[in-house]
Amino acid sequence: MQSEYRQRRQAVLKAIGQGTAIFCSAPMAVMHNDVDHLFRQDSDFFYLTGFNEPGAVAVLTSSHDEHKFVLFVQPKDKEKETWSGYRTGVEAAKERYGADEVYPIDELDEKLTPYVMKASRLYYHFGRDRAFNDRVISLWQHLLRKMTKKGEGPVAIEDAKLLMQQFRRVKSPAELEKIRQAIAITTEAHNTARDMVRPGLYEYEIQAVIENIFRREGALGPAYPSIVAGGKNACILHYVENNQPLQDGDLLLIDAGCAYDYYNADITRTFPVGDRCSEEQRILYDLVLQAQLAAIEQVQPGLPFNAFHDAATKVITAGLVELGLLKGDVDKLIEEKKHKAFFMHGTGHFLGLDVHDAGILRNLDKTWQPFAPGNVVTVEPGIYISPNYEPEEGQPVIEDRWHGIGIRIEDDLLVTETGHEVLTSGVPKSLDVSTKALAASH
Ligand code: GLY
Ligand code: MN
Ligand code: MN
Repeated sequence: MQSEYRQRRQAVLKAIGQGTAIFCSAPMAVMHNDVDHLFRQDSDFFYLTGFNEPGAVAVLTSSHDEHKFVLFVQPKDKEKETWSGYRTGVEAAKERYGADEVYPIDELDEKLTPYVMKASRLYYHFGRDRAFNDRVISLWQHLLRKMTKKGEGPVAIEDAKLLMQQFRRVKSPAELEKIRQAIAITTEAHNTARDMVRPGLYEYEIQAVIENIFRREGALGPAYPSIVAGGKNACILHYVENNQPLQDGDLLLIDAGCAYDYYNADITRTFPVGDRCSEEQRILYDLVLQAQLAAIEQVQPGLPFNAFHDAATKVITAGLVELGLLKGDVDKLIEEKKHKAFFMHGTGHFLGLDVHDAGILRNLDKTWQPFAPGNVVTVEPGIYISPNYEPEEGQPVIEDRWHGIGIRIEDDLLVTETGHEVLTSGVPKSLDVSTKALAASH
């Protein structure tokens, strides 16, 4: 793996020419008084270093004669390590992480200058750590003052996060292996949950089973707050309370995925709580499924990133018109965004180190980036008819039987040389697959 991190750094060095890029580890976040959140490394920092500690800075530069990759890390400290865990330290970091030079983080201000003063520009992401942002600005201002006398120095700061998008958008075989492992664990969790769901259980009981499997199988935990939403709760897109009992006759929407070695899965399934569902639930489910299949068709190398969302939107809008839930010309409804009353989110996002992963979707001339082999993307259309739905002017009033139905189906796809691979096909998405329903019919 060290050689892969090295290759990634070399690619970035090539892209920045005589510039210097500065990457910060994630800050420790406070949950509440004196209690920290679980540390989660910054994804760009991790992508380039594999180094998983807070209080670190990585510098990449071609403008220094000897050192191309420099790390600043927390030094070994027996007492501090007792409280907050193991530190690699300066000595070991050099060898283990392949840095040309490693310094203690306390020496950053004095040791950073030689790596930035001859750079043509700086790359830095102004992030959550305000104090560090200020240090970078001060350093730059200092260099600017000297620039016209010295005839060298960084003329601008470019966003390092933007820079990294081009690299992280295409996954390497090693990254894909981790995503596949995250998906394998998530698949088991979803299938186990589906088998145990029955009326009367609480949403959190299902959540507990899912997250138990995540941890038991070696995942870090949920990649995002698990959504286990029975009935109308599914109409709240970020429903995370998960504290209601499941009702016979309702659908259950589960959007849950684990993080495995920092790589994420993101799967949504919707299915009946009991062994029956209403005609309206079935009709809307089929519509979402048709929209999803149409969108999946558009995930191909060379096709622009908007095509799959357009395909899903078209199927859903046309279906809603046919059902009398929307009224008007399909293209015009879409143009006026009327479908957003029922389908209010995008159809998908890249997936990787971040759940909503890096990768430019649209160029500055507004053209869309095409899919490329190695992209991993979610495909997740939905229809949500809130219990409080009120039509906009000119749109039909909806009968009660449609209210409170929320459906999303989400798969994770890999773009291949010739098309795509659905990585999450191990989780069934037929409404009738429930083993309870099958057992009941025998
Ligand atoms: N679960 C987060 C998402 O689907 O984007
Ligand atoms: Mn999801
Ligand atoms: Mn998603």
